[in-house]
Amino acid sequence: MAQSKELTPAKRKYLAELTRGFRGIILFLFLISGIINVLALTGSLYMMQIYDRALTSGSIPTLVVLSTLAIGLYVFQGGFDVIRSQVLVRVGARLDKKIAPLAHRVAIDMPRFGFSTSESLERGRDVDTVRGFLGSQGPAALFDLPWMPVYLIFIYFLHPLLGALTFAGAFVLAVLTVVSEVMTKRLSVSTRKAAIVRNTIADSNARNADVLKAMGFSGRAVSRFSEANGEHLVLQTKSNDITGTFAAVSRVLRMLLQSAVLGLGAYLTIKNELSAGAIIACSVASARALAPVDLAIGNWKAFIAARMAYHRLRDTVIALATSDEPMKLPPPSNSLVVDKITIAVPGTGQVVLSDVSFDLQPGQALGIIGPSAGGKTTLVRALTGIWPVLRGSVRLDGADLGQWREEDIGQHIGYLPQEVSLMDATIEENISRFEPNPDYRKIVDAAKAAGVHDMIVKMPDGYRTQLGPQGTALSAGQRQRLGLARALYGNPFVVIMDEPNSNLDGEGEAALTEAIEGISARGGITIVIAHRPSALAAVELVAIVQNGRMVAFGKKQDIMTPGPQITSKPAHEVPKSQARRPA
Ligand SMILES: Nc1ncnc2c1ncn2[C@@H]1O[C@H](COP(=O)(O)OP(=O)(O)OP(=O)(O)O)[C@@H](O)[C@H]1O
Ligand SMILES: [Mg+2]
Repeated sequence: MAQSKELTPAKRKYLAELTRGFRGIILFLFLISGIINVLALTGSLYMMQIYDRALTSGSIPTLVVLSTLAIGLYVFQGGFDVIRSQVLVRVGARLDKKIAPLAHRVAIDMPRFGFSTSESLERGRDVDTVRGFLGSQGPAALFDLPWMPVYLIFIYFLHPLLGALTFAGAFVLAVLTVVSEVMTKRLSVSTRKAAIVRNTIADSNARNADVLKAMGFSGRAVSRFSEANGEHLVLQTKSNDITGTFAAVSRVLRMLLQSAVLGLGAYLTIKNELSAGAIIACSVASARALAPVDLAIGNWKAFIAARMAYHRLRDTVIALATSDEPMKLPPPSNSLVVDKITIAVPGTGQVVLSDVSFDLQPGQALGIIGPSAGGKTTLVRALTGIWPVLRGSVRLDGADLGQWREEDIGQHIGYLPQEVSLMDATIEENISRFEPNPDYRKIVDAAKAAGVHDMIVKMPDGYRTQLGPQGTALSAGQRQRLGLARALYGNPFVVIMDEPNSNLDGEGEAALTEAIEGISARGGITIVIAHRPSALAAVELVAIVQNGRMVAFGKKQDIMTPGPQITSKPAHEVPKSQARRPA
């Protein structure tokens, strides 16, 4: 995934593709808002006609004609209003449909780069925020704002002084909007950050439910949450105070202005410069002109939230857009080459593994041993593409991992992580990695190779058993064996297992050894990390990784002395034929 926010032509095209059609809809909404606003002059005109024509002439037919006309215009206005709000709701839904899958894609990518789950899931909420705002009253007000001049011109033609007064009022209200924007913007950013902190704590508490209960520190966990919640509340209150105050001030100002228009109108009427009907018309028109300002200020917070969410989504989409999909390559079958790779923790940039090189041929199995925190899992993260390499390359049949399409490469790599977590789905779906219409034989083969077929068929629903969140319906050993079946599914060329035997019993370990032998026999490559030597029964090569370096690589019998004790020989004693020594 390209991380750059820079707008390359390819990305620009991608973005244009996503928002295609929206420009036309916005223009349509703008025009329909114009019609609505012109039609909204009906009230003013009607009153003016009633006062200045119907009342003075005393003609009932005139009154009836005027009223019928007004009703007709009101109906039209209402109709257009309905169309506008329905279009807005649909724009929201359409945007959601296009962006939600992309946002979710980013959400499931972010944890690999050190983001918390809550922060990652924010992207999904961003989509909701944008859609929710488009369905609210806010956007209608924003579309009405540019049509304010219609009323100002109308009032101006009735009397320039009244036009000037309304214009001044509108100006003051607009300034208020800008000030409230400036004051709430920074606060919204920190409020959002505080919300993420709070949600991250809530998330971590929920995930550690067992530990909290067993050792009785739920109370303290709740206090920790409560503290973060308090900080969020303080900021939230502050920003609500600001927007609330501005909303109230603008409301009062608007009423003041309306009375001022009435007062000035009365003065002008006394001076015989204006008809009585025109006063009322002015008052109604000025109220209508300023209503959207009021509404916009009232909805300002939602608007800012939606805008920030939209910008985050836009950045996300831009970051996600890759220039071009690599060309399809034939399945790898010849080699796995690791060439002087250095790996840093994404996010912090701290180097945790440097200058590792080795290569493996079909049928070879490599065991990786070494002390805790030595960098074994880190190495595996680079081999599977979970983490990008800082320098060097990992190549399958000569092609760098980046040259493979993500979907394709996934079929050629089997991965059993150190902490096995299964999907909230059936056993069948877990093993087949959600493949649509999977071949049942492939699933059973994988399960048999991992030695779990008998265990699965003994379950009441067999392969259709639902596993629940994170596969909690299974024991740790069962999860590990199912994870192995998932890794073996479809006979991938490279199978990488991170401590596959940490929860296995004797029978499970025997199945694991058999699985590794099976991979070698069919010409696959196995890499297995182990603390317990029993997992290494079927491997011929062993590497030692410690302190962020690969210090030895060679034949098992050369590296490991007989017995359970694991010792390492210094790198210079490794047979030259096997190790590609770090430069
Ligand atoms: N997500 C991460 N963020 C920051 N540092 C990390 C992360 N993952 C690993 N590290 C650091 O990288 C170093 C190597 O960790 P790694 O998980 O590769 O060790 P390991 O050899 O697999 O250990 P173990 O045998 O305990 O599984 C450690 O110092 C660890 O602190
Ligand atoms: Mg590890």
